[in-house]
Amino acid sequence: MTETLTNKKWTLGARPETSVSREHFKFETEIVRPLADGEFLVKNQYIAFEPAQRGWLNDVRSYLPPVAIGEVMRSGAAGEIIASKHSDYQAGELVQGSFGWQEYAISDGTGLFPVTKIPAGIPMSYPLHIFGLTGLTAYFGLLDLGLPKAGETVLISGAAGATGSTVGQIAKLLGCRVIGIAGGQAKCQWLIDELGYDAVIDYKSDSVEQQLQEVCKNSIDLFFDNVGGEILDHALVNMANNGRIVLCGGISSGYQVKELPPGPKNYMQLVIRRCHMEGFIVLDYVDRYPEAREQLMQWVDEGKILVKEHILEGIEQCPEALAGLFSGQNFGKQLVKI
Ligand SMILES: NC(=O)c1ccc[n+]([C@@H]2O[C@H](COP(=O)([O-])OP(=O)(O)OC[C@H]3O[C@@H](n4cnc5c(N)ncnc54)[C@H](OP(=O)(O)O)[C@@H]3O)[C@@H](O)[C@H]2O)c1
Repeated sequence: MTETLTNKKWTLGARPETSVSREHFKFETEIVRPLADGEFLVKNQYIAFEPAQRGWLNDVRSYLPPVAIGEVMRSGAAGEIIASKHSDYQAGELVQGSFGWQEYAISDGTGLFPVTKIPAGIPMSYPLHIFGLTGLTAYFGLLDLGLPKAGETVLISGAAGATGSTVGQIAKLLGCRVIGIAGGQAKCQWLIDELGYDAVIDYKSDSVEQQLQEVCKNSIDLFFDNVGGEILDHALVNMANNGRIVLCGGISSGYQVKELPPGPKNYMQLVIRRCHMEGFIVLDYVDRYPEAREQLMQWVDEGKILVKEHILEGIEQCPEALAGLFSGQNFGKQLVKI
């Protein structure tokens, strides 16, 4: 590579105390430096957005270190290698890794999320969600923690989101009765019409408490919770005996640290109904990713799992893409295409 390239990137400028927005990041440009031996240069084409990215901005103890002030904002991304001084990676190969909110990334193949090559024949964005952490989260959370059985009632919050919609479709494949909680008529209609959910609750227009009573009173065998807060409280009182609650996320908190939500007031239902409630982090399943990826690829290939993407165009959109997850602006996996 002989031409001079200019990289556009977003770095963390200040830690948000409440909601995240553009003002917390700095948009910077820099000349791409020459590669050292053992490095390669990736031109990012898709950047992935997860609610967890908001959590990584908090300077608190967590499962990953916080993003440092001045550091390129951390995220998964997929792109093409355009130059390489690494014997295992060649120019022209497609890869995904934690390349961050920027146009060009220099990597040595290691990192918080190690670089993997994207197999031929699949859309370049899919390893960022359905064959990546999103799909793996749905797979292990539902199957390993939730232990669903045919005929059981499975309730999912955040049901129209990237993770939730995958969970629901796997549960349907297993013969479960699937009920989704999502925001807005369009998302709820999609869950019924396209994904075959058995019932939906629009938490933005109806009382969740009342709807749960009508749709699954005291009969939830498995609750896959992406939201927490009041929705978790309402689900707790409708659990069946020996039910399981999988704590995948708690997006209703906004992953803010300044004002924490109240704890679940109905937690004694766990005792009364002999339920099990457990959280997990998908990164702990890394040894089993190949098995899960293979199954997810087969389901997608057979048309048994539908995939939806929500794409914003241009690196400039990154802050809005992250903030939009917390207002439900994404309808499908949130990506930025460069
Ligand atoms: N444990 C793990 O290892 C792990 C890994 C990945 C993701 N997660 C968790 O999985 C969940 C989903 O992540 P994702 O990447 O698939 O994002 P996503 O579901 O595609 O997007 C987030 C969705 O959350 C909903 N939402 C936002 N604020 C809400 C609120 N106050 N109340 C109810 N719903 C709200 C919105 O949908 P509506 O329009 O329906 O409101 C929004 O579209 C998150 O909680 C995330 O932290 C956990």
